[in-house]
Amino acid sequence: MRETIIIDTDPGQDDAVALLLAFASRDRLDLRALTTVAGNVPVAQTTANALRIRELARAETPVHRGAESPLLFPLETAEFVCGPDGLAGADLPPPQGEPAPGHAVEAIIALCRAAPDDSVTLCPLGPLSNLALAFRLAPDILPKVKRIVSMGGALGLGNMTPAAEFNIYVDPHAAAIVYGCGRPIVMMGLGVTHQALASHEQVAAIGALGTATGKAIHGMLTRPRPGGLGTAGHPMHDPCVIAFLLWPELFEGRDCFVEVETSDGSQRGRTTIDWNGRLKRPANAHVVAGVQAHELFERMTQRLATLA
Ligand code: BDR
Ligand code: CA
Repeated sequence: MRETIIIDTDPGQDDAVALLLAFASRDRLDLRALTTVAGNVPVAQTTANALRIRELARAETPVHRGAESPLLFPLETAEFVCGPDGLAGADLPPPQGEPAPGHAVEAIIALCRAAPDDSVTLCPLGPLSNLALAFRLAPDILPKVKRIVSMGGALGLGNMTPAAEFNIYVDPHAAAIVYGCGRPIVMMGLGVTHQALASHEQVAAIGALGTATGKAIHGMLTRPRPGGLGTAGHPMHDPCVIAFLLWPELFEGRDCFVEVETSDGSQRGRTTIDWNGRLKRPANAHVVAGVQAHELFERMTQRLATLA
């Protein structure tokens, strides 16, 4: 049976690859909506980018525009990593289509309410603002949520600050709400996504597909990153979320208690992960820490090859 999913996203180059992998996996994933959030770039641009990627994949999934800012803090963006339009290197035209009517938060609530209990997998790839708003506005949807498979957080060093990963840093209050929601969470943090570096050969193989999709991904993954953070290539953070849905056997992790730091100081957005169970608190997340990266990229390339 296909897994019912909603992807909440702030494209973003690695979001774009994640979306394309999801579009290439319709046999396994029933993607009901893309909901956009401010993150890598402001929400008008993340919405345009979601539409550009949808059009590249020739899909018709509704795109709902969501939160313009974090719950409390002013928005901070990441053009220094993903370029001024968020999809630097993709060389995609502006979108032709429009967002679907209705705010992203309303769409998440409506889709969940219409679903059976324990049946919707939420896949947040950006700051958790939309999910937190949905859970606060409509707590009745929580039983509908099967699990939340989320890119965010860090077992070790952050990438936005020494303490914090970008998605959690941008909206730590939203992250604290989501990590306290009581539904199963899979945390795909930097500890694993920094292992998911596409090799030069694998990026070349994606470009060699010769398709519009292959060219767009190749362009994004070969573009120099002046504001990059010291990794040897583009870490495929967000694709790990979709890959986990498709191939959980490639990942390993541990159930842990995770606490999000919401104070506005040097610890803002830190995910404190009780890896060794010292705090004796019940686990609220499955923290993924390892991935078979080579195999992931082989399988991902096979899937991406099915797109135009
Ligand atoms: C996360 O931050 C964003 O810039 C990426 O799209 C990814 O979701 C990595 O820290
Ligand atoms: Ca993202």
